[in-house]
Amino acid sequence: MTGPSTVSAETYTITDVRALEILDSRGRPTLQVTVTVGDGSAGVAGVPSGASTGSKEAVERRDLDKGRYGGLGVRGAAGAVGGEIADLLRGRTWRDLGQIDAAMTELDGTPNNSLLGANAIVGVSMACARALACAQGRELWEWLTPAGVAPRLPVPHFNVVNGGVHAPNPLDFQEFMIAPLGAPSLAEAVRAGAEVYTALRALLASKGYATGLGDEGGFAPQLAEPEEVLALLTTAISDAGYVAGRDGVAIALDPAASEFRGADGRYQVAGQKLTSADMIERYTQIAQEFPVWLIEDGLAEDDWDGWAALTVRLGGRVQLVGDDIFVTNPAIITDAISRGVANAALIKVNQIGTVTETLEAMAVCRRGGYAQLVSHRSGETTDTFIADLAVSSGCGELKTGAPARGERVAKYNRLLEIAAAQPRLPYGLPAS
Ligand code: PGA
Ligand code: ZN
Repeated sequence: MTGPSTVSAETYTITDVRALEILDSRGRPTLQVTVTVGDGSAGVAGVPSGASTGSKEAVERRDLDKGRYGGLGVRGAAGAVGGEIADLLRGRTWRDLGQIDAAMTELDGTPNNSLLGANAIVGVSMACARALACAQGRELWEWLTPAGVAPRLPVPHFNVVNGGVHAPNPLDFQEFMIAPLGAPSLAEAVRAGAEVYTALRALLASKGYATGLGDEGGFAPQLAEPEEVLALLTTAISDAGYVAGRDGVAIALDPAASEFRGADGRYQVAGQKLTSADMIERYTQIAQEFPVWLIEDGLAEDDWDGWAALTVRLGGRVQLVGDDIFVTNPAIITDAISRGVANAALIKVNQIGTVTETLEAMAVCRRGGYAQLVSHRSGETTDTFIADLAVSSGCGELKTGAPARGERVAKYNRLLEIAAAQPRLPYGLPAS
C-alpha cells in the first residue's frame, strides 16, 4: 500500500485551493474546502465544529463580527485558505501529506493554529488527503491505511439520548450511545441501531416524554438522572428484540464531565454536588447495574488524579476514553499512557488540527495498547471523512451520532457502502 506514511518517488503539485462559507448542522457557518492537484484530481472537505471543546484544542477562527451570524462567520478563515495557505501550497512540489501539513502548521506558527485558523488548516488537510488519494486512484480508507495495519469496519456508536450542552433538557450527561458489539456484520449493526432508536422513541412517547432531538440527533427527554435514561435504554434494546450487553447491543456514555465540574472542583449531577471519588463510585454502580461497556470523559480534563483512580477502579472492565483530557494530542496521550490514565483515546481530526497529527495520535495509541474511538463533532456537515478514517485505522470503533439526521447518517451510509464493496473486511472490535 502507498498510504500517507510511505515515502514514494512521486511528487505533487497543487493547482487550486479554495474555501466556501457553508452551514453546519446547527445552522452555524463552517468551511467547505476544495483542493485540486496537478493531474486535475480534486478533494472536497466539510469542516466539523465542536461545542464541548477541550481547553487545549486547536482553535477555530471566527469573524467576531456581531452583525453576521452573531460573530460566528468564517470569512476570515476562508480568506486564509484562498490567500496565505493557497500561496504556500501552490508555490512548490510536495512529497506527501505529512510535508503539506507540517508546512501549514509552521506557517501558522501558533501552538493551536489560531492565526490562520484551525478550521482553515484542518479543512485543507482533509481536502488534500482526498485529492492525493484520488490522484493515486485509491479509496480514501485504503489510502489512509498505515503500513502493517489491518483495516476493519468499526462498531457504530449511535448517540440516542442527548443532554449537556447538546440539548436544552436537565440532563447533565451529554451522550448515551448504543453499540451493537455483538452484531454479525456492519449492516446488521446499523439495523440494530435504527431499530433500537425506533423502539426508544415509542417507549419515551408511551411514558409521556417529548421526543424532540438534540444536536447529535438523539432524543432530549426531560430527564435528569442518568440511571433513569440507562433503564429506558436497556428496555428499548430488549423491546427491539436484542440482547442488552456485549453479546448484543451494549451502552456507551459520554458524560463530558468537564462541562459540569464547578469552580469548587465538584461535579454537579442532577442537582447533587459530587467529588471525584463520588463520581467513581457512581460509575462503578452504573457499570454493575447496566450493560455499559465504555465511558468517555467520565471526569474533567484537569482531574488527572481522578482519572488515574478511575482507571485503577474500572479500567479492567470498562473502556475509559479520554476526549477533552487528550484532545487527540500525541504528546498528551504519550504522557497518559506512561501514567496509566484511561485506556483509550477519542480521535477527532479538528481537535489536533491536521490529518497527519491525527494519524500520529492513532499510532501512539496502537503502540501503547490504548483503544481508539473515532468521532464526529456536534456541528457536522455531510462530509464522511471519519468513516474512512475509522476503517483505515482498524480500531473498530466510530461514534457519529444518532441513526437519524442527514449529517450523521451520511457517515453510517458511507460505512455501508464500504462494507458492500469489500465483503471481506471484518466487522467489530479487534481481538485484544
Ligand atoms: P462536541 O462534543 O463535538 O460538541 O465537542 C462531542 C464530544 O464531546 O465527544
Ligand atoms: Zn466527548
